[in-house]
Amino acid sequence: MDFLSFKDIDSLDEWVKEARMIKDNPLKEMDLGKNRTLGLLFFNPSLRTRLSTQKAAQNLGMDCMVMNFDKEGWVLEYADGAVMDQGKSEHIREAAKVISQYCDIIAIRAFASLSDREKDEAEVVLNGFQKYASVPVVNMESSTGHPLQALADAITLNECGLNELKGHEKKVKKVVLTWAPHPKALPHAVANSFVQMMLRQEAEFVITHPEGYELDERITAGARIEYDQAEAFRDADFVYAKNWSSYRDYGQVMLKDSSWMVDQDKMNLTNEGRFMHCLPVRRNVVVSDEVIDSSASLVIEQANNRTYAAQVVLKKILKEMNNEG
Ligand code: CP
Repeated sequence: MDFLSFKDIDSLDEWVKEARMIKDNPLKEMDLGKNRTLGLLFFNPSLRTRLSTQKAAQNLGMDCMVMNFDKEGWVLEYADGAVMDQGKSEHIREAAKVISQYCDIIAIRAFASLSDREKDEAEVVLNGFQKYASVPVVNMESSTGHPLQALADAITLNECGLNELKGHEKKVKKVVLTWAPHPKALPHAVANSFVQMMLRQEAEFVITHPEGYELDERITAGARIEYDQAEAFRDADFVYAKNWSSYRDYGQVMLKDSSWMVDQDKMNLTNEGRFMHCLPVRRNVVVSDEVIDSSASLVIEQANNRTYAAQVVLKKILKEMNNEG
């Protein structure tokens, strides 16, 4: 069982429920991962993913090996038939098989290059490991998706009453994903997985961004796009801010317009909406201090829920490895 994309979550309700039960008693299954090792391979920086995934593994009794592949590993070749007479020292075929001998599960972070859309969409690193490793592979943010983040966000939304029953009826809540400015070109992975997660919720879901920042239509199909940010914010129960670079003009920063920053005036348009962001966040660029420091901000709890999102994924993989189903 691999966990490569949000599509690998068969029943979102069930996974969220299980994660919330784990959160209530995180050490309940300390023996499940005994004598098992999680290898965490980072081709890019991380704070939350690195620590929360290790924490989740430790809660299940696993050992962890962490490697900052970008700084410590040999530069890998992924192409079949390559004549390796340039800068790349090791082929994915050997690397993945060797690491599989040391680790029972391999988790990988490998961001998009943002320079070659075709290569990014081929998920060369993640799929290379998945193809040649002999153990399960977990996505800790790849070129096109960050499913552990989206699962943590689903847990946070659920805790804050996204699907709460009012009597016998569910009150449909409004969730807005808003583009926000950023000085650097950022990947689409977080936004993509958040959209995939929201399209599986019973909610009013709106994406707002400047023209030219449309995400991959294959992912947003069925979602409402609103180019007027203020209109999108009106009566929202949750506002999720995220920057991404242009998908159409792949990887380009077309706009740094600070008028798209989330500030209190915009939050005042919402239905006492809660503010969300995956972190790290640039204060007073993406979101004002006033909003992120307010009681409406959920960012710290989102980060907390990363542990339980990772733990439910690892638990399911370990159970399958132990033939417990
Ligand atoms: N949200 C998130 O993935 O954080 P890190 O990049 O710090 O892991």
